[in-house]
Amino acid sequence: MQKKSRHHFGDAGRIAGHFRCTQQESTTEAKSYGGYETQVKWGEHLVTVGACGDCHTPKKMTPMGPADDSSLLLSGHPAQMPVPDVDRKMAESKGLAVTQTLTAWVGPWGVSYSANLTPDSTGIGMWSEEQFMVALRTGVAKGIKGNRLLLPPMPWNSFKNFSDDELKAIFSYLKSTKPVNNAVPQPLPPDLPPPASPVQ
Ligand code: HEC
Repeated sequence: MQKKSRHHFGDAGRIAGHFRCTQQESTTEAKSYGGYETQVKWGEHLVTVGACGDCHTPKKMTPMGPADDSSLLLSGHPAQMPVPDVDRKMAESKGLAVTQTLTAWVGPWGVSYSANLTPDSTGIGMWSEEQFMVALRTGVAKGIKGNRLLLPPMPWNSFKNFSDDELKAIFSYLKSTKPVNNAVPQPLPPDLPPPASPVQ
Protein backbone atom coordinates (compact mmCIF):
# COMPACT_ATOMS: atom_id res chain seq x y z
CA MET A 1 0.00 0.00 0.00
CA GLN A 2 1.33 3.43 -0.91
CA LYS A 3 1.96 5.75 2.00
CA LYS A 4 -0.23 8.82 1.74
CA SER A 5 2.36 10.90 3.57
CA ARG A 6 4.63 10.75 0.48
CA HIS A 7 2.55 13.52 -1.01
CA HIS A 8 2.29 15.32 2.25
CA PHE A 9 3.54 18.87 2.12
CA GLY A 10 5.65 18.47 5.27
CA ASP A 11 7.63 15.59 3.79
CA ALA A 12 8.19 17.41 0.53
CA GLY A 13 9.53 20.31 2.52
CA ARG A 14 11.92 18.04 4.39
CA ILE A 15 13.10 16.40 1.16
CA ALA A 16 13.68 19.77 -0.48
CA GLY A 17 15.62 20.82 2.61
CA HIS A 18 17.74 17.69 2.36
CA PHE A 19 18.56 18.37 -1.29
CA ARG A 20 19.58 21.91 -0.51
CA CYS A 21 21.83 20.63 2.22
CA THR A 22 23.62 17.97 0.10
CA GLN A 23 24.06 20.41 -2.72
CA GLN A 24 25.66 22.88 -0.39
CA GLU A 25 28.00 20.25 1.06
CA SER A 26 29.22 19.12 -2.34
CA THR A 27 29.86 22.71 -3.44
CA THR A 28 31.94 23.36 -0.33
CA GLU A 29 33.84 20.12 -0.91
CA ALA A 30 34.56 20.91 -4.55
CA LYS A 31 35.86 24.32 -3.56
CA SER A 32 38.26 22.96 -0.96
CA TYR A 33 40.24 20.79 -3.43
CA GLY A 34 41.52 18.38 -0.79
CA GLY A 35 42.42 21.29 1.48
CA TYR A 36 44.23 23.25 -1.27
CA GLU A 37 43.07 26.55 -2.72
CA THR A 38 43.07 25.48 -6.34
CA GLN A 39 42.63 22.28 -8.31
CA VAL A 40 46.15 22.72 -9.74
CA LYS A 41 47.72 22.94 -6.24
CA TRP A 42 45.84 19.81 -5.16
CA GLY A 43 47.07 18.07 -8.31
CA GLU A 44 50.65 19.12 -7.57
CA HIS A 45 50.34 17.59 -4.10
CA LEU A 46 48.96 14.31 -5.54
CA VAL A 47 51.76 14.15 -8.12
CA THR A 48 54.29 14.63 -5.30
CA VAL A 49 52.88 11.93 -3.02
CA GLY A 50 52.12 9.68 -6.02
CA ALA A 51 55.87 9.89 -6.79
CA CYS A 52 55.19 10.45 -10.52
CA GLY A 53 58.48 12.38 -10.79
CA ASP A 54 60.44 9.40 -9.45
CA CYS A 55 60.03 7.75 -12.82
CA HIS A 56 58.89 10.56 -15.12
CA THR A 57 61.54 13.21 -14.25
CA PRO A 58 65.03 12.36 -15.56
CA LYS A 59 67.67 12.23 -12.81
CA LYS A 60 71.19 13.57 -12.87
CA MET A 61 73.91 12.24 -10.62
CA THR A 62 75.15 14.59 -7.89
CA PRO A 63 77.59 14.08 -4.98
CA MET A 64 74.44 13.49 -2.87
CA GLY A 65 73.12 10.78 -5.21
CA PRO A 66 70.53 11.02 -7.99
CA ALA A 67 68.51 14.27 -8.10
CA ASP A 68 65.64 15.49 -10.30
CA ASP A 69 66.74 17.47 -13.36
CA SER A 70 64.30 20.31 -12.65
CA SER A 71 64.58 21.73 -16.20
CA LEU A 72 63.12 18.44 -17.46
CA LEU A 73 60.33 18.09 -14.88
CA LEU A 74 58.00 15.16 -15.72
CA SER A 75 59.20 15.06 -19.34
CA GLY A 76 59.93 11.33 -19.46
CA HIS A 77 62.85 9.37 -20.85
CA PRO A 78 65.11 11.71 -22.88
CA ALA A 79 64.59 10.80 -26.55
CA GLN A 80 68.24 11.38 -27.51
CA MET A 81 69.59 8.79 -25.04
CA PRO A 82 70.79 5.57 -26.67
CA VAL A 83 69.08 2.26 -25.88
CA PRO A 84 70.33 1.05 -22.45
CA ASP A 85 73.74 -0.55 -22.96
CA VAL A 86 73.19 -3.69 -20.89
CA ASP A 87 73.16 -7.43 -21.53
CA ARG A 88 69.45 -7.57 -22.41
CA LYS A 89 69.12 -11.36 -22.04
CA MET A 90 70.76 -11.27 -18.61
CA ALA A 91 68.60 -8.33 -17.42
CA GLU A 92 65.44 -9.96 -18.76
CA SER A 93 66.11 -13.36 -17.18
CA LYS A 94 67.76 -12.31 -13.90
CA GLY A 95 66.04 -9.12 -12.91
CA LEU A 96 65.82 -5.46 -13.76
CA ALA A 97 68.22 -2.86 -15.13
CA VAL A 98 67.55 0.85 -15.08
CA THR A 99 69.38 3.79 -16.64
CA GLN A 100 71.13 6.52 -14.62
CA THR A 101 68.21 8.85 -15.43
CA LEU A 102 65.82 6.33 -13.82
CA THR A 103 63.61 6.63 -16.90
CA ALA A 104 64.34 3.48 -18.97
CA TRP A 105 63.74 0.04 -17.54
CA VAL A 106 64.85 -3.36 -18.81
CA GLY A 107 63.03 -6.44 -17.53
CA PRO A 108 61.20 -9.55 -18.70
CA TRP A 109 58.79 -7.28 -20.64
CA GLY A 110 61.62 -5.79 -22.77
CA VAL A 111 62.54 -2.11 -22.46
CA SER A 112 60.04 0.51 -21.23
CA TYR A 113 60.57 4.26 -21.27
CA SER A 114 58.72 6.60 -18.90
CA ALA A 115 56.31 8.87 -20.74
CA ASN A 116 56.40 12.64 -21.22
CA LEU A 117 53.67 14.04 -18.94
CA THR A 118 54.19 17.72 -19.82
CA PRO A 119 51.60 19.63 -21.92
CA ASP A 120 53.80 19.60 -25.06
CA SER A 121 52.34 17.89 -28.15
CA THR A 122 54.93 15.10 -27.58
CA GLY A 123 53.46 14.68 -24.07
CA ILE A 124 49.88 14.98 -22.88
CA GLY A 125 49.27 18.34 -24.64
CA MET A 126 46.67 16.88 -27.03
CA TRP A 127 45.10 14.52 -24.48
CA SER A 128 41.56 14.99 -23.20
CA GLU A 129 40.82 14.62 -19.50
CA GLU A 130 38.80 11.52 -20.43
CA GLN A 131 41.86 9.91 -22.13
CA PHE A 132 43.97 10.56 -19.03
CA MET A 133 41.37 8.95 -16.79
CA VAL A 134 41.05 5.89 -19.04
CA ALA A 135 44.88 5.50 -19.13
CA LEU A 136 45.19 5.54 -15.33
CA ARG A 137 42.05 3.48 -14.66
CA THR A 138 42.52 0.72 -17.26
CA GLY A 139 46.24 0.93 -18.07
CA VAL A 140 45.87 1.38 -21.82
CA ALA A 141 48.43 3.51 -23.64
CA LYS A 142 47.26 7.08 -24.35
CA GLY A 143 43.90 6.21 -22.79
CA ILE A 144 42.62 4.98 -26.15
CA LYS A 145 40.58 1.79 -25.79
CA GLY A 146 42.12 -1.10 -27.75
CA ASN A 147 45.70 0.24 -27.38
CA ARG A 148 48.43 -1.89 -25.79
CA LEU A 149 48.61 -2.22 -22.00
CA LEU A 150 51.10 -0.01 -20.17
CA LEU A 151 54.27 -1.83 -19.15
CA PRO A 152 56.03 -1.98 -15.76
CA PRO A 153 57.02 -0.21 -13.74
CA MET A 154 54.06 2.20 -14.35
CA PRO A 155 51.91 1.44 -11.26
CA TRP A 156 48.51 2.07 -12.92
CA ASN A 157 47.06 -0.86 -10.99
CA SER A 158 47.46 1.19 -7.80
CA PHE A 159 46.64 4.52 -9.41
CA LYS A 160 43.29 3.27 -10.68
CA ASN A 161 42.14 3.81 -7.09
CA PHE A 162 42.48 7.59 -7.32
CA SER A 163 39.02 9.18 -7.23
CA ASP A 164 37.68 10.96 -10.33
CA ASP A 165 38.28 14.33 -8.66
CA GLU A 166 41.86 13.37 -7.77
CA LEU A 167 42.62 12.26 -11.34
CA LYS A 168 41.11 15.49 -12.69
CA ALA A 169 43.29 17.51 -10.28
CA ILE A 170 46.42 15.59 -11.35
CA PHE A 171 45.57 16.21 -15.00
CA SER A 172 45.01 19.93 -14.45
CA TYR A 173 48.37 20.20 -12.65
CA LEU A 174 50.18 18.32 -15.44
CA LYS A 175 48.58 20.68 -17.98
CA SER A 176 50.00 23.64 -16.00
CA THR A 177 53.65 22.45 -16.08
CA LYS A 178 56.30 23.75 -18.50
CA PRO A 179 55.94 21.96 -21.86
CA VAL A 180 59.08 19.98 -22.78
CA ASN A 181 59.49 18.78 -26.35
CA ASN A 182 60.57 15.15 -25.98
CA ALA A 183 59.22 12.34 -28.14
CA VAL A 184 59.87 9.33 -25.90
CA PRO A 185 60.79 6.18 -27.89
CA GLN A 186 58.37 3.28 -28.18
CA PRO A 187 59.04 0.32 -25.85
CA LEU A 188 61.09 -2.62 -27.16
CA PRO A 189 59.83 -6.20 -27.02
CA PRO A 190 61.86 -8.75 -24.98
CA ASP A 191 65.07 -10.15 -26.46
CA LEU A 192 64.40 -13.54 -24.89
CA PRO A 193 61.73 -15.81 -26.38
CA PRO A 194 58.55 -15.99 -24.26
CA PRO A 195 58.62 -18.69 -21.53
CA ALA A 196 57.29 -22.12 -22.57
CA SER A 197 53.67 -22.59 -21.57
CA PRO A 198 53.33 -24.52 -18.28
CA VAL A 199 52.92 -28.31 -18.52
CA GLN A 200 49.31 -29.22 -17.77
C1 HEC B 1 57.73 3.33 -10.86
C2 HEC B 1 57.78 4.21 -12.01
C3 HEC B 1 56.58 5.07 -12.36
C4 HEC B 1 55.82 5.85 -11.51
C5 HEC B 1 55.97 6.03 -10.01
C6 HEC B 1 54.84 6.51 -12.34
N1 HEC B 1 54.99 6.14 -13.65
FE1 HEC B 1 53.78 6.69 -15.20
N2 HEC B 1 54.84 5.48 -16.43
C7 HEC B 1 56.01 4.80 -16.12
C8 HEC B 1 56.52 4.13 -17.29
C9 HEC B 1 57.79 3.29 -17.39
C10 HEC B 1 55.60 4.42 -18.33
C11 HEC B 1 55.65 3.91 -19.78
C12 HEC B 1 54.94 2.57 -19.85
C13 HEC B 1 54.76 2.06 -21.27
O1 HEC B 1 55.24 2.70 -22.23
O2 HEC B 1 54.16 1.02 -21.43
C14 HEC B 1 54.55 5.25 -17.75
C15 HEC B 1 53.45 5.71 -18.46
C16 HEC B 1 52.53 6.62 -17.97
C17 HEC B 1 51.40 7.13 -18.70
C18 HEC B 1 50.96 6.68 -20.10
C19 HEC B 1 51.51 7.57 -21.17
C20 HEC B 1 51.10 7.12 -22.55
O3 HEC B 1 51.65 7.68 -23.52
O4 HEC B 1 50.23 6.26 -22.70
C21 HEC B 1 50.76 8.05 -17.91
C22 HEC B 1 49.54 8.88 -18.25
C23 HEC B 1 51.49 8.08 -16.66
N3 HEC B 1 52.54 7.20 -16.71
C24 HEC B 1 51.15 8.90 -15.59
C25 HEC B 1 51.73 8.78 -14.32
C26 HEC B 1 51.29 9.54 -13.17
C27 HEC B 1 50.20 10.60 -13.19
C28 HEC B 1 52.05 9.11 -12.12
C29 HEC B 1 51.94 9.51 -10.67
C30 HEC B 1 50.62 9.53 -10.07
C31 HEC B 1 52.98 8.10 -12.62
N4 HEC B 1 52.75 7.93 -13.96
C32 HEC B 1 53.91 7.42 -11.85
C33 HEC B 1 56.59 4.73 -14.87
C34 HEC B 1 56.06 5.28 -13.70
